[in-house]
Amino acid sequence: MIAVIYGSTTGNTSDTATKLQQQIGDDKVELFDVKDVGLDALEYFTHIIFALPTWDYGEIQEDWKDVWDDIDDVDFSDKTVAFVGLGDQYSYAEWFQDAMGMLHDKVAERGASIIGHWPASGYDFEGSKALTADKEYFVGLALDDDCEPELSEQRISDWCAIIEAEFAKAA
Ligand SMILES: Cc1cc2nc3c(=O)[nH]c(=O)nc-3n(C[C@H](O)[C@H](O)[C@H](O)COP(=O)(O)O)c2cc1C
Repeated sequence: MIAVIYGSTTGNTSDTATKLQQQIGDDKVELFDVKDVGLDALEYFTHIIFALPTWDYGEIQEDWKDVWDDIDDVDFSDKTVAFVGLGDQYSYAEWFQDAMGMLHDKVAERGASIIGHWPASGYDFEGSKALTADKEYFVGLALDDDCEPELSEQRISDWCAIIEAEFAKAA
């Protein structure tokens, strides 16, 4: 089983979590809203997808703020983790997907195996904390339901194929 742990202020990331579940399979994915259950799922799952939007010029989404310090106490060394970020590349071009990068860095420091890097080509932005060191990839799936909603379905489908194979290898 995969835990999708998400936070969402205006519903886009919540909808994305449901789409991930539909894409991978209802019987293989459980959804956890950080606002309701915090990080409790981390105790029971080794395969995790964290999904979060960036808000307010490079900030993590508000529900993630409540659990942010608790992440420091989690040992991720037995966990395989993928990330999904929501952002707006045109209106917030200097901070596109920053929150995904900030969460990734925290989780990677605590020993997680990270999967699901995603090509950064095909997006138009100025800066992002969610890029890999070579700037060729995002550290997870970057979705932009504000400017490119029509691309999200295919992106989700392509990315899920990648992470399903990688989760299977990690099993
Ligand atoms: C006030 C405001 C600030 C935002 N700041 C950023 C930002 O700094 N970087 C970014 O990539 N997207 C930013 N966004 C876009 C949101 O991440 C995007 O709308 C996302 O889909 C919201 O997800 P949610 O509906 O799950 O809360 C911002 C949106 C708003 C309305």
